[in-house]
Amino acid sequence: MLVTQQKSLRHFWYPVIPLERLTGGPKPFTLLGEKIVLFLGADGAPAALRDRCCHRTAQLSLGWCENGNIVCGYHGWTYDQTGRCVRIPQQDESTIPTNARTRAFHCATRYGYVWVALEDPYTPIPEFEQAGQEGVRQIDQFYERWECAGLRLMENSFDMSHIAFVHRETFGLREQEKPPLMKITPLEWGLETLVETPVKNHDENARTVTGSEGAETVRTMRGTWYMPFIRRLAISYPGGLKHDIITCATPIDDASIMVVQWCYRNDTEQQVAAAEVIAFDRAVTLEDKRILESTESDACIDTSRRVEFHMDTDRPGLVMRQKLLELFRRDGEEEMHGPSLAEV
Ligand code: FES
Ligand SMILES: [Fe+2]
Repeated sequence: MLVTQQKSLRHFWYPVIPLERLTGGPKPFTLLGEKIVLFLGADGAPAALRDRCCHRTAQLSLGWCENGNIVCGYHGWTYDQTGRCVRIPQQDESTIPTNARTRAFHCATRYGYVWVALEDPYTPIPEFEQAGQEGVRQIDQFYERWECAGLRLMENSFDMSHIAFVHRETFGLREQEKPPLMKITPLEWGLETLVETPVKNHDENARTVTGSEGAETVRTMRGTWYMPFIRRLAISYPGGLKHDIITCATPIDDASIMVVQWCYRNDTEQQVAAAEVIAFDRAVTLEDKRILESTESDACIDTSRRVEFHMDTDRPGLVMRQKLLELFRRDGEEEMHGPSLAEV
């Protein structure tokens, strides 16, 4: 799927950058191939504009902020948060043309991140009820670019059959090649899954992070897919520990994503240091990254091939493809762009 060709994808919210990174000045970001600039207004609220000055097309992200506006670094044309040009230093204010502006996009702050939607969003930013709950902490884990497609990461996030292979060095049980059955419930804008699986509790760090003793433990995993590129995985361990991971595959372009991941845990820094939690999930995430960056970004999820092989563990991926196709058809987009898996 070539995400930059699928216009429907512009109608969703994506987390693009941690809010705190904007305190140093404007920052560029590419979302679905669209170059945008992010900056903070005078009240601390973020704004997202097209990263292009309407004077002589310089990138606004090379400029700076002044009184909550953004100043182009070329000749100083200045834009407010709505994208309107409010100052042309070489002229009087009264002579600013009314069409001197650059495009503004929907922009909001949630969970400590700046979220952007390029067109009117079809769905709100997902609600994570643990945010701000007493006894629950948020740990910001990763903000990094991966050279793979968002759909590949989403499929992988619900794919139980890769665990025995990709994660054999960490929590995966190599001998469990046939994973337990997963309950799948399609939602209007995504899907939910429920599965219970034994996992390795392989070292001291793992036992600390899972709050479980012994060489093996059990994960109860409730997954939610929020169309198109957000996944929540709520993991419960037998000792009562809850570890909810939010993974966002924010689409940069057709072949790269920004992985934005944080988690919620019902324990404290004194019990388990955030650095230990990050190190644990880091090891697992790098295993996924290595294999996902080897995959083909353009290829669609090939329904016929998977049905043919009756691969139950691929069903979440099938539902994803069906739901995306339904959306694209509804919006007048005929098919997913890109070759099918059979061609790659
Ligand atoms: S190009 Fe931006 S002010 Fe001239
Ligand atoms: Fe994985």
